[in-house]
Amino acid sequence: MQKEPTKRELRQLASQLRCPRGQMGLDIAYVMNSSNISMIVEGIAALSLSPNNTILELGHGNCKHLPKLLEIHESLNYFGLEISRLMVEESQKTNATYVQQERAVFQWYDGVHIPYPDQQFDKILTVNTIYFWQDPVAFLRELYRVLKPGGKTVVVFAVKEFLYDLSFPKYGFTMYHRADFKKLIGQTHFKILRIKRKKEFIKKPTREVYSAYLSGHHTHKKPVCRMLQKNSESKTRTSV
Ligand SMILES: C[S@@+](CC[C@H](N)C(=O)[O-])C[C@H]1O[C@@H](n2cnc3c(N)ncnc32)[C@H](O)[C@@H]1O
Repeated sequence: MQKEPTKRELRQLASQLRCPRGQMGLDIAYVMNSSNISMIVEGIAALSLSPNNTILELGHGNCKHLPKLLEIHESLNYFGLEISRLMVEESQKTNATYVQQERAVFQWYDGVHIPYPDQQFDKILTVNTIYFWQDPVAFLRELYRVLKPGGKTVVVFAVKEFLYDLSFPKYGFTMYHRADFKKLIGQTHFKILRIKRKKEFIKKPTREVYSAYLSGHHTHKKPVCRMLQKNSESKTRTSV
């Protein structure tokens, strides 16, 4: 019979998901990327990438999905920001060819201040990071600041109703209902273009999550994908 994870193990897992570190961080990042791949692919599709777009992704993990994004158009440019130095190093190694070709740049930052000037990016993507934003409204405003007028941001996350049933998010995740997220957006200049709700099957992150991260059962997950747009007239950036 499978042993239940202890509180200590669940806390450790939650902490690794927030910021992967060490050998365990590499293992978690590997499983995280494969178990979240359909959320990531959904997010990439929602970006509606055009040739020559410059894309920013926040919290890319090990970024094994980069070919799925950069192969859409050969003129795309990608910038990744992470709070985990391990994930920056791992992503650079995994995507060494794109880095050499100067199509991808990976950088560490503090998770608060985006180290780029205003209006740099056509598209912004972030998947499964909202739970860790220290000040969500301020962070969304940072995203808005670096987005070009008319640009799009896609935020993908699992909703509170789903996460609530799991054992690890209570250890430091901030969970959002869709209404909570709308409230956040209402405090920014973003306009919601589309909200997509999707059910899917992924590796089981319920009570067996700790071992499932290593063994891989399946269960329901309810990710939500929000697409946000920056108004093209910067003076009249209205909220939702
Ligand atoms: C749960 S993992 C998700 C990874 C990947 N996006 C996925 O869906 O599989 C969260 C990742 O975001 C990073 N992270 C957490 N807070 C962040 C922030 N404020 N900005 C950027 N990255 C962050 C963590 O280091 C970690 O690699």
